[in-house]
Amino acid sequence: MAKRKTKFVCQECGYESAKWMGKCPGCHSWNTLIEETEASTVRGKHIFNGSSKTISKPESITAIESQEEPRITTSMQEVNRVLGGGIVLGSLVLIGGDPGIGKSTLLLQISSQLAKKELPVLYVSGEESTRQTKLRADRLGIKTDLLYVLSETNLFDIGRQIETIKPAFVVIDSIQTIFKEEVTSAPGSVSQVRECTGELMRLAKTNNIPIFIVGHVTKEGAIAGPRMLEHMVDAVLYFEGERHHTYRILRGVKNRFGSTNEMGIFEMKEEGLREVMNPSEIFLEERSHGTAGSTVVASMEGTRPVLVEIQALISPTSFGNPRRMATGVDHNRVPLLMAVLEKRVGLMLQNQDAYIKVAGGVKLDEPAIDLAIAVSIASSFRNRPTKPDDIFIGEVGLTGEIRRVSRIEQRVQEAAKLGFKRVICPKNNLDGWTPPSDIEVVGIDTVQDALNIGVEH
Ligand SMILES: Nc1ncnc2c1ncn2[C@@H]1O[C@H](COP(=O)(O)OP(=O)(O)OP(=O)(O)O)[C@@H](O)[C@H]1O
Ligand SMILES: [Mg+2]
Repeated sequence: MAKRKTKFVCQECGYESAKWMGKCPGCHSWNTLIEETEASTVRGKHIFNGSSKTISKPESITAIESQEEPRITTSMQEVNRVLGGGIVLGSLVLIGGDPGIGKSTLLLQISSQLAKKELPVLYVSGEESTRQTKLRADRLGIKTDLLYVLSETNLFDIGRQIETIKPAFVVIDSIQTIFKEEVTSAPGSVSQVRECTGELMRLAKTNNIPIFIVGHVTKEGAIAGPRMLEHMVDAVLYFEGERHHTYRILRGVKNRFGSTNEMGIFEMKEEGLREVMNPSEIFLEERSHGTAGSTVVASMEGTRPVLVEIQALISPTSFGNPRRMATGVDHNRVPLLMAVLEKRVGLMLQNQDAYIKVAGGVKLDEPAIDLAIAVSIASSFRNRPTKPDDIFIGEVGLTGEIRRVSRIEQRVQEAAKLGFKRVICPKNNLDGWTPPSDIEVVGIDTVQDALNIGVEH
């Protein structure tokens, strides 16, 4: 009998080796190589009938008919937006997220919305029994006949059910629990995940059914399994959120049918996820108008602009060294910006305590927020408020110059959308685009200019 060929595969990054090693040369993690059967011995039998035998010929790009991808839209605008306008037929979408963040809830809600539109949906759960899913559905108030629930982990059986029910949308929760019999390694191992995903991809493409798969994430927050998994699928979405807040963010990190600039914000409630149409509104909700030391910045959160309030409190030092404290921004930037204000603008800040806070518990780590911090400090020091409908954007250099920032158009658009009247931004950023008509954009060269315009004397 032929000897079965095995190999050792890193469960973190998918690195393959003929012999066992303690440390993976691919990703340098320890003890992640696991013995698996060579995948070549299990190939050859596909569970789904695909037309893999047809030979494709090269075509001239001009001869290929162009057409919009047909999409199904859900009732949640935030979901449609992240997907680039809706669910593309025949696409395979991977959703990752921390345990308990609400992946199953989100997908069950999407499923029920599609089922309400008379589209049969198959929700396959490998983690929960049908009764558990039913309990969740009751909590979410889901009552639709066309939503079929299946508790199954064998890919072959799932495939057969799909062929019987012929759903218009399939959810696989989660890919780490699904297994293909021919692959000997355990569910969740690199080979299993890769083989099952490949099979689901073939199924989605040949039958034109969109399939959403849930992927677990590792301690570091990446989707567990080989990086290759992210390359195989059409779109990768992450569902994230803070433990202490009820807000959840759906972010696209890859999308073959749309931009990844979009993110969707939801609020987790007893009766399920509710969409939050305008995230900046949440962060600015409790803003006090007309108080000194408060400014608003349009910062890029990932790839989407979000408006956030930056607060500063400057008060005379009572004894010893002045204190400099910052939450939500890099605390090294505060003394630096204070030094610039002192040297270039002439504010006597050396005997002042400074406290900087980003409201709403957000963390900002891009240089474009410098100007807003500097203006907040100056505003608090002079005890003069800035105008409530001004936005400050710009990186501050050591000579007090204001430097160019990325994606200015998107930031200005977001500000205009929320009804701000004026954006104070780097002069270098003004070329090559036209701002929206309902907002004034002022280009400046130095911090001094910003203070002249934005803070009264
Ligand atoms: N009765 C409830 N009221 C409010 N929120 C609830 C209630 N029950 C559950 N939740 C929320 O739903 C979350 C669980 O959602 P869900 O099971 O969809 O997460 P998941 O990402 O699929 O988790 P897992 O990784 O375990 O599959 C809980 O963490 C909690 O925030
Ligand atoms: Mg779940």
